[in-house]
Amino acid sequence: KLGVRESVADVARVLSRYVDVIMARVFAHHDIEELARYSRVPVINGLSDYNHPCQALADLFTIYEKRSELQGLKLAYVGDGSNNVATSLLFAASKVGMHMSVGAPVGYQPHPAVLRLAQEEAARQGSTITVTPDPVEAVRGADVIYTDVWTSMGQEEEAEIRRRIFPPYQVNSALLAQASPDVIVMHCLPAHRGEEITDEVMDGPHSVVFDQAENRLHAQKAVLVALLGKG
Ligand code: NVA
Repeated sequence: KLGVRESVADVARVLSRYVDVIMARVFAHHDIEELARYSRVPVINGLSDYNHPCQALADLFTIYEKRSELQGLKLAYVGDGSNNVATSLLFAASKVGMHMSVGAPVGYQPHPAVLRLAQEEAARQGSTITVTPDPVEAVRGADVIYTDVWTSMGQEEEAEIRRRIFPPYQVNSALLAQASPDVIVMHCLPAHRGEEITDEVMDGPHSVVFDQAENRLHAQKAVLVALLGKG
């Protein structure tokens, strides 16, 4: 486990002597910040409990691939609006001028500081970011419906209570019927089929989930090219 046998700072110092770039999937976000602070090579956040930027890059790429545009589209995120994936989507969508509505229960809505940053950026780009406890309102007119697990890393002991709170936010055919007829459905995976998304939707004609999974590879190759200056 990172930071147990050896400090995170020393891991960063040693790896910097071995490699050209570090990509780390960590648990606590401060570990990625600590790696970046002490590394002499670029550090990529591969996933933390705060955010998931590589996923969001791949997601924008996937939406662009399907729709040939980003600005002005509406992305509805349904589920735990306070988790790592939702946080990065808020930052990413606002940067490219996409509208985003988060349909999440009270208590699981985006952190106020994250929401404020995203709303300020969206205002600059001419889009809007809204939050509602009503999943139907969130997906109305949406071009993209996005969901993720109800229980994220580190929240395992809350799984039972979350399983009781989140069922109205399941992405199923009834919810899909409220969105645009050509809506695409996304999930960062791994999915808990039968919880946040049904088999019918995940394997259905609106799902782009596995193209999205493939695009993690391409987006991350692009990040490497950008960081290593070999474009
Ligand atoms: N929100 C999920 C994302 C997994 C890639 C989790 O933190 O478990």
